[in-house]
Amino acid sequence: MKLFADTAIISEIEEVSKWGIIAGVTTNPTLIARSGISLDEAMNQITKLIDGPISAEVAEASAEEMIAEAKVYAAKNKNIVIKIPMTMEGVKAVSRLTKLGIKTNVTLVFSTSQAIMAATAGATYVSPFLGRLDDLTKTTDAGFKVVKDIKDIFNTYGFKTQIIAASIRHLEHVDQAMKAGADIATIPYKVLKEMDKHVLTDDGLRRFREDSKK
Ligand code: E4P
Repeated sequence: MKLFADTAIISEIEEVSKWGIIAGVTTNPTLIARSGISLDEAMNQITKLIDGPISAEVAEASAEEMIAEAKVYAAKNKNIVIKIPMTMEGVKAVSRLTKLGIKTNVTLVFSTSQAIMAATAGATYVSPFLGRLDDLTKTTDAGFKVVKDIKDIFNTYGFKTQIIAASIRHLEHVDQAMKAGADIATIPYKVLKEMDKHVLTDDGLRRFREDSKK
């Protein structure tokens, strides 16, 4: 499973890119607003930092309008993936973009039926949202179950669409994404920074440092 960074903040991407383990980046309009730069500028800078798929989300609109915006971004850099909202217009746009050889990531996916529509349209990626689904259902595993079901269906029918587990809020979601068989987990900076931590690692290091002085 690959790890993507779910952020548009350039300083965060700069830092995580140096770890050598981040294979791509996802953004959305909220993350772009939080970054303080335009989508255009974010794509310019992120593509220089990470050599892997970078999702740029188009505004919800008619299929024609989304296709027009998608063509502009896809022409900028070979790594830009067009993030399309899960609507009927979005499905139409994905069908057409697939035929044009433009990579897509269908976002705001919360059910197997939505994932099946996106995959049938030829989406390169689908993004089921773990955190928001858990929030809605007030459970801790609704997101996990949807990712697992999508994975089973894609395997059974041989869909090539890759699953990006999104809306990850904590380490348990990263674990669930892996156990459910997601191809990618897109992880916010705050959670990425928690992944290498363990109280016993800190304790072990402290003891080794002390003993190495003896
Ligand atoms: C990424 O593709 C999604 O847009 C993102 O993970 C959504 O996260 P949120 O539910 O925390 O806003």
